[in-house]
Amino acid sequence: MFKGLFQTRKNTMPDTALDLSGIDLNNIPQHIAIIMDGNGRWAKAQGKIRTYGHQAGAETLKKIVRAADKIGIKVISAYAFSTENWKRPVTEVNFIMELLSRYLTNEIDEFKENNVQVRFIGSQEGLPEIVRQKMAHAVAETKDNTGIILNLAINYGGQAEILQAVKRIARDTAAGSIAVDEITNEVFERYLYTDGLPAPDLLIRPGGDLRISNFLLWQIAYAEIWTTDVYWPDFSEEHLLQAIRAFQGRERRFGGLVNK
Ligand code: FPP
Repeated sequence: MFKGLFQTRKNTMPDTALDLSGIDLNNIPQHIAIIMDGNGRWAKAQGKIRTYGHQAGAETLKKIVRAADKIGIKVISAYAFSTENWKRPVTEVNFIMELLSRYLTNEIDEFKENNVQVRFIGSQEGLPEIVRQKMAHAVAETKDNTGIILNLAINYGGQAEILQAVKRIARDTAAGSIAVDEITNEVFERYLYTDGLPAPDLLIRPGGDLRISNFLLWQIAYAEIWTTDVYWPDFSEEHLLQAIRAFQGRERRFGGLVNK
């Protein structure tokens, strides 16, 4: 249905120079989490159906990962499908699943060429078999890549993530492989889907809503939050740079004091 879009991407999206003015390249956030919101409203504003917006949103993600890689960001976590998104009409859910599946097939070469490592967070339960296969394939094909990590949240919910961690720790405690007093933040984090990744320094939410929407609840404890009214399909490299400039203007205290 949307095959052409992906096949023509390389010709339709030439790399453009990024305007890095005002950016301190020594203080780039390591990990940026993105809630890719506003696809449906973007499509509606153009008299199109919602799924058209998701398709455009997938293109935006590619563009932003490329830009993020260029400026030295190490991890992009992108919220592609939440545990709550199953409540949407079945046609929309099916479209997103098909989009993901095609994305993972069509982008594999680009991931390999650009040294992108693909990871997933979320529960595999309930996902179509074909999507699970494509996910496993993308992970296997890119696991040794050492460049930017694209961490896609699919069937992800922060509360569900914490709950599955608690259950697994409880089982390990009952089995005697860990003592209750040994459960520190660091130990707990090993039970989260994001094991091995640094916590996000910056959370970006386009689309105008000021919510966390169950994304990375544990991990964003000290993330700086940057929002914009721009809908995700219209989110550009310049918006990414704006968010980074804002991040660099913030005073991060992590609960402590900063001496001036
Ligand atoms: C939120 O916009 C977006 C989603 C629930 C899905 C995000 C999916 C994509 C960007 C495309 C799939 C991703 C990949 C990697 C292929 P919304 O539908 O809630 O928009 P609205 O708030 O305007 O209704």
